[in-house]
Amino acid sequence: MLYGTLVDLVPYGERFKAHDHDWWNNESRYWGSMGEHMFVSRAAVEREYEEWDQTQHTETGVGFGILTKDGTPIGGIGINWLSAHHRVTDLGAVIGERAYWGGGYGTDALLLVVDYAFNWLDMRKVWLGTMSLNARVVRQMEKVGFALETRQREGTVADGRWHDVLTFGRLRDGWPGYAAMVAALGIVAR
Ligand SMILES: CC(C)(COP(=O)(O)OP(=O)(O)OC[C@H]1O[C@@H](n2cnc3c(N)ncnc32)[C@H](O)[C@@H]1OP(=O)(O)O)[C@@H](O)C(=O)NCCC(=O)NCCS
Repeated sequence: MLYGTLVDLVPYGERFKAHDHDWWNNESRYWGSMGEHMFVSRAAVEREYEEWDQTQHTETGVGFGILTKDGTPIGGIGINWLSAHHRVTDLGAVIGERAYWGGGYGTDALLLVVDYAFNWLDMRKVWLGTMSLNARVVRQMEKVGFALETRQREGTVADGRWHDVLTFGRLRDGWPGYAAMVAALGIVAR
């Protein structure tokens, strides 16, 4: 577990999986998938878990559930892919509960994961991709000190409009640590 200020990061167990059918079909999935509207059946969710279990041993990734301090499961965050050789990780996050967007929960979770990647996994670099339409993520990247590194023009379509795919990266150099970032951003327990 990683203990934060607004959230804790915990194993993505049954209490999170119970929400996946909702979370994979609601608006969070649209933003998380860069513009796709999906209908995912319960059987498809189960199949994903089975495939995930079968490949876990060969793929590298670390998934956490995001739990508020009052014990509410609100989504997931983690390392999608990690290269031990290059010491680089690709991150992803989705808060499935819309009521918790824009309240600092995702940034607290991101700070925990970045700190984990740098200070526990000894990574040199973390990066994250999103579509240019996703203002919450763009703002979050700015707050946490990620730099815009690539812009793939019109790499994704959302509701019939083309948007650029952006990647943001942050190097370990200059990372002051979780506590210093929380203080700098003024994140306080509620
Ligand atoms: C992306 C996500 C994890 C961010 O977590 P969060 O808790 O919402 O983020 P925060 O509240 O810490 O920060 C978001 C910032 O965007 C700002 N923001 C919120 N809505 C906004 C909007 N419509 N336009 C511009 N900025 C917006 C917030 O005010 C906040 O900035 P501030 O701290 O300066 O006020 C979460 O919103 C989410 O899961 N969204 C849906 C799925 C998704 O987009 N996943 C990411 C895929 S790459």
